[in-house]
Amino acid sequence: MKVAPSILSADFGKLDVEIKAICDGGSDYVHVDVMDGHFVPNLTIGPVVVSAVAKVATKPLDIHLMVENNTFFVELFAPLKPEFISFHIESESHPHRLIQKIKSLGIKPAIVLNPHTLPESIEYLLEDLDMVLLMSVNPGFGGQKFIPSVVEKARRLKSMINARDLKTVIEVDGGVNDKNIKDLKNAGVDIVVAGNYVFSNPSYKNAISSLK
Ligand code: DX5
Ligand code: ZN
Repeated sequence: MKVAPSILSADFGKLDVEIKAICDGGSDYVHVDVMDGHFVPNLTIGPVVVSAVAKVATKPLDIHLMVENNTFFVELFAPLKPEFISFHIESESHPHRLIQKIKSLGIKPAIVLNPHTLPESIEYLLEDLDMVLLMSVNPGFGGQKFIPSVVEKARRLKSMINARDLKTVIEVDGGVNDKNIKDLKNAGVDIVVAGNYVFSNPSYKNAISSLK
């Protein structure tokens, strides 16, 4: 299981120290939650802070957009060369076009599904995606309770991926902890995002390795 700690739960007063600690503690990616105050009822960070994060991080960035104007934000963050940029299917009228744009910038495209969104809604986009991110909370805030129906959704998505012989990876985001991680693994999940679980542990390294 790969682990992408979400810096939303980090102490922003010492963000450089926090990022070094998760990178040295065995994280596979640094998960960055970008919220615009429109698509979700919260506002987080923009290019000034994310470029500071990119400078300190020794692991690739996994940028999760929770915004209305996806293309604008993709163009803003592309120069930071993240590994993934993921955008919500619920906020994009032309997902196929945006996937091609992200690819043309040399970045792996991913689509995010809110808890109610069917995996079949992206069936005809799957072969162009490097990753699908399944929300296991309603997006907007860290520290929320895990919604268990995501396990069944991950299983369904995994069989869609296998049936097409694709290499698309599945990531789950929200309320992940040492109790639900096994079910996620068994359902075929490849990467988990963990905010509160990692940053509330006195040892980020222990938290990350217990998930792995
Ligand atoms: C929620 C964010 C998540 C969140 C995860 O909108 O996308 O990445 O920070 O935090 P936890 O693990 O605390 O639910
Ligand atoms: Zn996220």
